[in-house]
Amino acid sequence: MKTAALVLAAGKGTRMHSERPKVLQTVLGEPMVLHVMNALAPHFGENIWLVVGHGAEEVRKAVPGARFVMQDKQLGTGHALSCALPALKEAGVERVLVINGDTPLVTAEIVGQFLEQSQQADLAFASISLANPASYGRVVREEGNLVGIIEAKDYDLAKWGPCSGEVNAGVYVFSLALAEELLPRVSNSNKSGEYYITDLVGLALEQGASVKGIVCGNTPTLLGVNSPLELADAEQRMQKQVNDQLLKSGVILHARESVYVSPMAQVEPGAELCGPCTVTGKSRICTDARVFSNCVIRDSVVEAGAEIRPFSHLEEAVVHEGALVGPYARLRPGADLGKNAHVGNFVELKKTKLGEGAKANHLSYLGDSEIGAGTNIGAGTITCNYDGKNKFRTVIGEHAFIGSNTAIVAPVTVGAGSLVGAGSVITKDVPEGELAIGRGRQKNLGRRRDSKA
Ligand code: UD1
Ligand code: CA
Repeated sequence: MKTAALVLAAGKGTRMHSERPKVLQTVLGEPMVLHVMNALAPHFGENIWLVVGHGAEEVRKAVPGARFVMQDKQLGTGHALSCALPALKEAGVERVLVINGDTPLVTAEIVGQFLEQSQQADLAFASISLANPASYGRVVREEGNLVGIIEAKDYDLAKWGPCSGEVNAGVYVFSLALAEELLPRVSNSNKSGEYYITDLVGLALEQGASVKGIVCGNTPTLLGVNSPLELADAEQRMQKQVNDQLLKSGVILHARESVYVSPMAQVEPGAELCGPCTVTGKSRICTDARVFSNCVIRDSVVEAGAEIRPFSHLEEAVVHEGALVGPYARLRPGADLGKNAHVGNFVELKKTKLGEGAKANHLSYLGDSEIGAGTNIGAGTITCNYDGKNKFRTVIGEHAFIGSNTAIVAPVTVGAGSLVGAGSVITKDVPEGELAIGRGRQKNLGRRRDSKA
């Protein structure tokens, strides 16, 4: 039987007080919805759909590889499921796991358990118990028998009595046939004026379908995020989980309460991270690499023995073995530092490859460049790679020496072993091994009082 997953991600998230779609609010640097996708991926592979609506384009960009269905108007979670039915049917899906996109702490394990326990049911949902049921849908049971889920706003205390604390976690499995049959019967005559997915539980019970409320206890794994406070709480929980795991595996953490590592990043045993620092995306920090405080690293690789000194920022960069970066360095996408290369303070690299042992230690901008092994880039060297319209490349050979405050006007090639005088503006290629000086000659003019003109 073909089972797919459907993530509800069309809502605005009014309680976040932000225009950004709620599911794109980040936990440890990654949008909430990506965490949900990662928990689903091992079970569903390609068969994951997202219902998008508010900020649909942004959400699509943030979740590459998913399939999307559009909910033009956000008329409620039940309406979101209706919008997805035609696409699911067309794909031959017979059962669907539906999950709220604002559940970032969910794990692949809990999804697996839920799938297993829901196998025999036409409809299943997960419940958690909370001391304060807050805005969650209340699970109502009478003498142990499930009656339905009643949303917080519609909960009639006189009718149902005090909430037991068992609430709906926002994870469901539906047989598509049952959902298709019941959805037209869901009405929006309730306090929110919305079509609730949760009404399907009561409707299914009424017609004698097999419905299962799967009790997951007081696990925080299924907590939803609706407000800045809940977002901060979720982040704190995940941070602790990730850091505990890193420590257990043998990663060295200093000031661990301020070390933020995304669960998507990889930090090998023996690596060392000093807080505050942030390592996110598909980053990999290898054994014996050291990341000092106030560094922000995204989608970058730091190989063994490399050091990222304080206040350095890396994005889509690769730092090979033993290289030194910072303090105060900025490696932008496409920066690639060879073994034992050095990049020092206030040096910015973009799409630039620095060969083995090459050095750019002070105040430089190197863009669209290839710099040979052992070459020294003097303080204040700038590659002028942009003429206002196009970008051009600079190639500097091995063991060259570029004097301080040089402007290299690309496209240009500076040969291996050459020397460029300080303060030069290099606009023409420099042949291998030659000395290039491109600056005004110094004149010393006499200014003694008694000298005659
Ligand atoms: C929902 C449940 C509630 C449950 C709680 C668990 C309903 C009616 N209520 O409440 O029983 O206890 O989750 O966290 O479902 N969304 C859409 N389209 C819409 C509306 C919402 O895609 O038209 C998406 C949102 O982006 C969000 C998810 O559905 O990711 C849940 O919506 P939200 O408004 O957060 O529902 P809750 O009030 O938390
Ligand atoms: Ca929610």
